[in-house]
Amino acid sequence: MTGHHALLVTGGCGFIGSNFVRYWLKQHPESKVVVYDKLTYAGRKENLHDVWGSPGLSLVVGDIGDRDLVRRTCQDHAIDLIVNFAAETHVDQSILGPLVFTDTNVRGTHVLLEVARELGIRLHHISTDEVYGHIRDGHQSVETDELAPRSPYAASKAAADQLVQAYAITYGLSVTITRGANNVGPYQYPEKAVPLFSTNALLGEPLPVYGDGQQMRDYAHVEDHCTGIEAVLLKGKAGEVYNVGTGHEMTNLEMVDIVLETLGQDHRLVRHVADRPGHDRRYSMNVDKLRALGWTPKYDPRQAVAEAARWYADNRWWWEPIRRGAFREYYQKQYGERLEAARP
Ligand code: NAD
Ligand code: TYD
Repeated sequence: MTGHHALLVTGGCGFIGSNFVRYWLKQHPESKVVVYDKLTYAGRKENLHDVWGSPGLSLVVGDIGDRDLVRRTCQDHAIDLIVNFAAETHVDQSILGPLVFTDTNVRGTHVLLEVARELGIRLHHISTDEVYGHIRDGHQSVETDELAPRSPYAASKAAADQLVQAYAITYGLSVTITRGANNVGPYQYPEKAVPLFSTNALLGEPLPVYGDGQQMRDYAHVEDHCTGIEAVLLKGKAGEVYNVGTGHEMTNLEMVDIVLETLGQDHRLVRHVADRPGHDRRYSMNVDKLRALGWTPKYDPRQAVAEAARWYADNRWWWEPIRRGAFREYYQKQYGERLEAARP
């Protein structure tokens, strides 16, 4: 991919999408970027507060399932690349209310593929390591592994991946897919573990660790995910899938230690609560294929988690209103009984 481009960044007001938009505008100031976002609870205009007004950046509020609006937006802005971040993204929310995951992650992605096919636009799809299911010790997922998702979220993402690949095979659509590890960093909605634990620690509230806390995740800095996506957009091969992570995982209790240490908080805040149903024990990906494009991550997982925790300490303006708002209802539903039962 070379020259000037017009990108439709779906889900660009979410955590990774907003980090990507900011990064892309800085690296490619000649590009046009149209953020297309439904502004769900996780999509927040303030995630791009410092870049609205940049030349070439605009926002269309809409659902990726709205075929007419997606088509019209692509035509009006002469879009030549769709980067699809739009999704329902939290496993626990997918356990509480799974159907919207199919609506957005499966049907929404399918609509984007249809518009891309109709207008001849390249599509890059953002996927996740969760599509591989949980990974036995000693193995690292490679891109050709079979998909074995185990949560409604992961199943919806796996279905989307398969549709994207089917469109490449059947219609010859130009597509690429990246499968990201657990991302951490600025503007991550506090339902996810690292921002939840960081903001709870800053509020002096207990940290609800599911089960024994020995589950393993590769905590990758969102900036490294953005450079990985950029590498695939610029140098990736059509039809291919690329894993994006650090290639190193740690246990959740190790992650909690880093958060508490970074924020100078006490271990007495840790509560082991009732586990998440179907909780995947371990994710681990091999990222050699992306490295072969010349990409290397800047952060190791320890640095990534510590940097993220520091950001929440320095940016209370961003998360305090979220924590005071509708998030409280979700928190009560998800953690009320769990924390009650785990009282010391
Ligand atoms: P997020 O929940 O922070 O943001 C999702 C964004 O999508 C929000 O802006 C939301 O408003 C928007 N959206 C949701 N439904 C929509 C719809 N129907 N139409 C238009 N916009 C809609 O999510 P995130 O963590 O930034 O994740 C972005 C992508 O990366 C997702 O596809 C996710 O599956 C994938 N991913 C996330 C992680 C992670 O650790 N967070 C890891 C790997 C992959
Ligand atoms: P999460 O950020 O939800 O990402 P995912 O489940 O998609 O990997 O959770 C990361 C890990 O932290 C995962 O093993 C679940 C665990 N976790 C807790 O122990 N307590 C919590 O309150 C949350 C949200 C997650």
